[in-house]
Amino acid sequence: MSRPAVLVTKRLPSATLLALEQSCDIDLNEGEAYLTNEQLIDRIRGKQGLIALMPDAIDRTVIEAGDALKVIAVVAVGYNNIDIAAARDRGVIVTNTPDVLTEATADLTWALILNITRRISEGERLVRAGRWQGFRFDFMLGTDLAGKQLGVVGYGRIGRAVAARARAFGMRIACVSRSRTSGDDVEPMSLDRLLLTSDVVSLHVPLTPDTRHLINQAALARMKRSAYLINAARGPVVDEPALVWALKNRIISGAALDVYEDEPKVHPELLALDNVVLSPHMGSSTTETRTAMADLAVRNVLAVLAGESPLTPVR
Ligand code: DGY
Repeated sequence: MSRPAVLVTKRLPSATLLALEQSCDIDLNEGEAYLTNEQLIDRIRGKQGLIALMPDAIDRTVIEAGDALKVIAVVAVGYNNIDIAAARDRGVIVTNTPDVLTEATADLTWALILNITRRISEGERLVRAGRWQGFRFDFMLGTDLAGKQLGVVGYGRIGRAVAARARAFGMRIACVSRSRTSGDDVEPMSLDRLLLTSDVVSLHVPLTPDTRHLINQAALARMKRSAYLINAARGPVVDEPALVWALKNRIISGAALDVYEDEPKVHPELLALDNVVLSPHMGSSTTETRTAMADLAVRNVLAVLAGESPLTPVR
């Protein structure tokens, strides 16, 4: 019996690839660049499985070229880069990697919160530039977090893990949630009220047509002038030019971003601002978490190709 073939769009940890290799033939993109649409279309032909990363645009043209395709495993929790409707039309199962990256992403979110509220990157730039002139009592004053309100927009796994850490920092927690939330210390509220009342607003919604530009100029104008915006979800949830406007005009105090509207491009005016922290989409990037994500993606592919249910299907 011939072995199934799987296209892997980027190198994964060797042990993970070895597990896949036990029962499948692998077509691995060894290149530095992500595959173009033409390359994806060309290489998906005859493949039963596809393991894709967040920057791979798996649109209808790619899925329809997959004449033997049974499963698309995206090595990420977000799957806005996959045309789910096209996959469904072709009976192709799509899986993602929830849970395994929750803690790492919540940690990075907190690194961003602490960084922007205590001006760590701004201070480091100053030290490295040789511009620090010694201790001064009123120098680089940041903002206390204890007693303030963290507004979590999207109270799923990652939003909850971010909120759990907020308790240790003595923050009050508010959330916007699609489902009923439990927990006495979490106050569910409308987005409008959360924006009006929160000191730190942290975004944890998936990117969908409903959440694209959820944080636009009007939303930013609702926020406190002393508030901070954190985005470790998906770039297009925030209207970047509107954020530039809000930061330049001190409509809000600061922002910390791990994701951007048109990655890897960053709005040029953001690069010039001191009241924004910019990290390069690294929410889940720890060795342990990335390994667990790759392992889970491979287990999903192997399950589907063996005729079993995948562990974490996208529903
Ligand atoms: C995710 O998992 O969605 C991350 O943003 C990409 O690794």
